[in-house]
Amino acid sequence: MDELLIQGGRRLKGAITISGAKNAALPAMAASILIPGKTRLSNIPDVRDVRVMCQVLEQLGCTWDRDGDLLEIDASSISSVEAPYDLVRTMRASVLMLGPLLARFGKARVSMPGGCAIGTRPIDIHLKALNKLGADISLDHGMMELSSNGLSAQEIYLDFPTVTGTENIMMAAMGAPGETTIYNAAREPEIIDLALLLTTAGASISGAGTDTVHIQPGMLKEFVTHRVIPDRIEAGTFAIAAAITGGEIRLKNIVPEHLTAVMAKLGQVGVDVTIEPGEIIVKAGEPLRPVNIQTAVYPGYPTDLQAQFMALMCLAEGESVITENIFENRFMHVPELNRMGADIAVRGRTAVIKGIRKFRGAEVMATDLRASASLVLAALAADNETRLLRVYHLDRGYERLEGKLQGVGAQIERLTGGGP
Ligand code: EPZ
Repeated sequence: MDELLIQGGRRLKGAITISGAKNAALPAMAASILIPGKTRLSNIPDVRDVRVMCQVLEQLGCTWDRDGDLLEIDASSISSVEAPYDLVRTMRASVLMLGPLLARFGKARVSMPGGCAIGTRPIDIHLKALNKLGADISLDHGMMELSSNGLSAQEIYLDFPTVTGTENIMMAAMGAPGETTIYNAAREPEIIDLALLLTTAGASISGAGTDTVHIQPGMLKEFVTHRVIPDRIEAGTFAIAAAITGGEIRLKNIVPEHLTAVMAKLGQVGVDVTIEPGEIIVKAGEPLRPVNIQTAVYPGYPTDLQAQFMALMCLAEGESVITENIFENRFMHVPELNRMGADIAVRGRTAVIKGIRKFRGAEVMATDLRASASLVLAALAADNETRLLRVYHLDRGYERLEGKLQGVGAQIERLTGGGP
């Protein structure tokens, strides 16, 4: 397995062009199943989750062609409605197959996703809503069997504004004649992006980005093009890289308003944030002030940037408190950060971080996508070398991470086929 070797202590300076959003690309790729023809997607990042989603689509009988950030999917001759365990277990977002398969074929057979490092991550809310739309659901040997003799438009209330749950229902509603309304819908920018794609495909959708979304299917086109939004989580990760190394980075190809909560928090830390059209310049300030964080659904502070912010707070002058309100086990980075000299105590969903002067480089293990990003950030600020194992976690959601960091002066290299 690959490893990253990082020599810390360099102030990062320069510009980074942000890639397309993994969490917009995955639902967009699932939505291509609805189209009895070609869907041409652009700004698609070359990350592992996207490559796995291509395999899932191929398993269904789709063909696809990749050219740079372009991905064209032909779903005109789908021959299967089954997403097998060996693919689903490596990428839970495969549950996004349920909605479009039900909408177009009236059936779907997808492996239960199982838990993951950050929590049990049930999909009960997805299934309750799909059942209300008209799907009969059974569980057989770990596979979810969904079938319907025709979906019907409904008023759906979500117990929690689940992101992929909202996306699944939006796509299922494309097969339910009439107007489906989703109450307590997720409001993330990725929801708005999917609504834009479905509208381009022929649907009438209003309210995307608010807690109430209305969907009318309409006549589906046979050729759809769509450019996915930039990755706000990647952008936030590099903004924190500038802050934690005492550097200055211009983030390019972003939507600044997707990062309002993150930039507000960085401002409270003492980081200088300048917003320009499609760009943000982040300039470190010293000393770093301690700041408390409560993760929340959008537009609150994103859970996907909690681990990265924690690494920054390790170097603040004082004590910070971070509460993780979205997932039940999203502090896997804490033991590894403490091995690098951090002073973090976890009580349930709250972490208390006491500022230290410097991280010490160490051999550390990545455990999940965003936890590994926080270890990279700590390593960049450490006073010597860090060896990060199990880099495949990072590769799930960050495109060319080491290349982008090298471009702003980081001393980071990938060793392929390393240790455990
Ligand atoms: C999406 O996951 C993202 N993934 C996650 O990003 C992100 O952390 C999460 O939203 C929250 O913002 C994609 O978009 C592919 P949820 P999702 O359903 O949809 C509970 C990353 O790092 N819940 O909004 O799976 C659930 O257990 C990934 O890029 C239920 O109880 O998240 C969790 O506690 C990680 N029942 C909470 O809701 C359900 O049926 C939020 O989950 C569904 C969810």
